[in-house]
Amino acid sequence: MAHILGIGTATVDIINTVASYPTEDTEIRAIKQRICRGGNATNTLVVLSQLGHRCTWGGVWVNEPAGQLVLADLAHYAIDTSPCRVLAQGKMPTSYILLNQQNGSRTIVHYRDLPEFSFNDFQRINLAAFNWLHFEARQITETVQMIKQAKQQYPHLPISLEIEKPRPQIEQLFAQVDVLLFSKTFAQHDSHTDDAKLFLHSIHPQAPQACLICAWGTAGAYALTPPGDLLHSSAFPPAQVIDTLGAGDVFNAGIIDSLCRQQSLAMALTQACQLAGNQCGQEGLQLKS
Ligand code: ADP
Ligand code: FRU
Repeated sequence: MAHILGIGTATVDIINTVASYPTEDTEIRAIKQRICRGGNATNTLVVLSQLGHRCTWGGVWVNEPAGQLVLADLAHYAIDTSPCRVLAQGKMPTSYILLNQQNGSRTIVHYRDLPEFSFNDFQRINLAAFNWLHFEARQITETVQMIKQAKQQYPHLPISLEIEKPRPQIEQLFAQVDVLLFSKTFAQHDSHTDDAKLFLHSIHPQAPQACLICAWGTAGAYALTPPGDLLHSSAFPPAQVIDTLGAGDVFNAGIIDSLCRQQSLAMALTQACQLAGNQCGQEGLQLKS
């Protein structure tokens, strides 16, 4: 099994399950409320840990009750948090989430007022210990430096990068990594199309070295190999869609897990869709044994 370092966020998620999505300027009651740890990189690590990998998180957390909740959850999944920067003051990033009981859709209002994990923080990590690095594309100039340093020191250490939201200069990162994990939101924004295949072909010249992957919700996911072969996996819908929160993060864990096991990109795509589909049929990220 691999030792995986994930650099990115942890949040507190306040999830209100509602009978249906509300109309603006009305008042409704939640059926249920759950408060738990969230955040893309840590969600992905929590799944990878359950799949048997050793996982380490590099990020920023605040030593306040919500930060302790986050830390306790990561400890439950045996995730090492030693590279983290711990702040004595501030508030954990918080997501206010409406989970629609009718279709499992999640609507997120996110608030964040916290510094990002920096290149300076990253430099203190001994990368020799790891078999895989995973990043969220957040502060681009800092992330460019982290990835450049990792590639300089360990040219054969595989790096995956999640591209979720459009950010200025984000394309600087594309040529630096081995696996690019795009969201549908990013693809639609970047290519002005609803076509994952067109999007992936448009990225290929900017990242000819990388496996390009794009999750597409209920349409499954698409990938383009470095030689230019297009792959697709259908989604695996559960009997009932209960909770789609974090589906993309689970999908990313499925890809990393498969590639760490030396499986082909086609197998990775199918396994990731299966894993994410299963997750949509249950609440939370605890894998069924
Ligand atoms: P995000 O959480 O980033 O919005 P997506 O909605 O693109 O991510 O979903 C990621 C993956 O999860 C998809 O590729 C698909 O395999 C799976 N998935 C998402 N929604 C569903 C669904 N309703 N039914 C089955 N699988 C789903
Ligand atoms: C799901 C998620 C939530 C978090 C939000 C942050 O993908 O990581 O757990 O609140 O996205 O953007």
